[in-house]
Amino acid sequence: IKFQKTHLKEIGSTNTYLQESDKDRLLPEGTIVYCDIQRSGRGQRGNSWESEPFKNLTFSLLLRPEHIPANRQFLLSEIVSLATVDVLNRYATGFSIKWPNDIYWHDKKIAGILIENVLSGSTFSRAIIGMGLNINQKNFYSDAPNPVSLYQITGRTYKIEKILDEFTEAFGKRYTDTFTNSSDRIHKEYIAALYRNDGVYPFYSDGNIFHASIADVELDGHLLLSTESGEKKRFAFKEVSFLL
Ligand code: BTN
Repeated sequence: IKFQKTHLKEIGSTNTYLQESDKDRLLPEGTIVYCDIQRSGRGQRGNSWESEPFKNLTFSLLLRPEHIPANRQFLLSEIVSLATVDVLNRYATGFSIKWPNDIYWHDKKIAGILIENVLSGSTFSRAIIGMGLNINQKNFYSDAPNPVSLYQITGRTYKIEKILDEFTEAFGKRYTDTFTNSSDRIHKEYIAALYRNDGVYPFYSDGNIFHASIADVELDGHLLLSTESGEKKRFAFKEVSFLL
């Protein structure tokens, strides 16, 4: 995959910008848009994504993953998350992937990912991968629950574009893997990199708190938990949350 980066000073949302620019489906795979100021960044579950101007990486990447079956969309989530951790591991330790695709440092969130897919029947025709990665921000004032930046972890500041280039390099390798039969290996790496994959923790679902350990993640992204009573529970995204 070849990447073509476009830098914008200011935009509402890089995901929305790519969606609108690709109305006629003409943008080449690998198109990237990143910005200094994102005024109305969008997050998962209709949340907003706030990022201090000029401090962090906020970008979107367009893919046409037609070689990936529509029922394996989750594979993209896995490789984006893994590539992000690949990059962060160069700078510090303690990173993991909080299912399904938040990037954590210990119990704090350093990056959020919003993937917006277009399927045409069983063909996976387009994905727009948006990421906000906290890099140089020193203080967080928003009501985001537990943010952290690379600066807060290491005490250093970074060139944002360099980290974007490191991401595209890491992602490019992992995307190439998806053209060969490596989805089992990718899935195993994803499971191994998961936050709280090492024991029993509290979870919240449907008004109840229960204790469980992560048993597996299905190939379509469902989370399988084993409760203390030995029962297996299966959750889609949004149906369960981790308690601190
Ligand atoms: C989340 O954790 O809820 C996902 C946050 C995703 C934010 C990024 S920033 C760049 C791209 N453009 C957006 O509007 N959102 C994503």
